[in-house]
Amino acid sequence: MIGKTGSGKTVKVRNLIADESRVLCFDTTGHDYDDGVVFYDVKSLKTFWDKVYLKDFRLIYRPLNEVTEFPLICGLVWKCQDLVFVAEEIDLFCKPNGTPDEVRTILKRGRHRDIRFIGVTQRPYGIDRSVTAMGTEFFIFKTDEPRDVDYLAERFGSQIREQLKVLEQYQYIQLTDHGHSEIGKGEL
Ligand SMILES: Nc1ncnc2c1ncn2[C@@H]1O[C@H](COP(=O)(O)OP(=O)(O)OP(=O)(O)O)[C@@H](O)[C@H]1O
Ligand SMILES: [Mg+2]
Repeated sequence: MIGKTGSGKTVKVRNLIADESRVLCFDTTGHDYDDGVVFYDVKSLKTFWDKVYLKDFRLIYRPLNEVTEFPLICGLVWKCQDLVFVAEEIDLFCKPNGTPDEVRTILKRGRHRDIRFIGVTQRPYGIDRSVTAMGTEFFIFKTDEPRDVDYLAERFGSQIREQLKVLEQYQYIQLTDHGHSEIGKGEL
């Protein structure tokens, strides 16, 4: 999920996960997700999760320090398997050449464990290229920061510049790595 602030990313993620039965949201801002059991420290999350990891769950993790806690949460996600894992503000912990191994493992091999990762960011330019390279589906909302637009043009082709210019509020361009592209909009 890529797009500037207020463009509709979090609303779209909430739509996407509404009917999922095993979900964990890494809620860096602390107010994006409220449909689930909320945890504030890794130990409590782990204790709870040890009991429910074979069942359905909706969990929200609100970190005190997202940079140090994200790899720990990724480690738990990896062990749990078969879930949707949402992370807001991934530019904070997927910096160029600075993506922790635990994060990389989920992106690279999560598919084999039915881990579907949804990463959200306002700033694609500031993200480790190896992370965006592993993405299979992209929702690109309104973006106008020149460095971000340049990055998107480089990654998805220069036609995206014109597409972004005519994108309406809360609309997104949905792109898959098979080359499919369509315009959509989340539902409030
Ligand atoms: N599809 C939509 N239809 C109507 N209103 C919407 C839609 N999507 C978003 N909004 C409105 O815009 C606000 C901001 O949307 P959202 O929180 O999804 O933005 P965001 O891209 O996640 O922003 P940020 O990067 O700052 O977190 C929402 O609270 C809602 O009021
Ligand atoms: Mg948001």
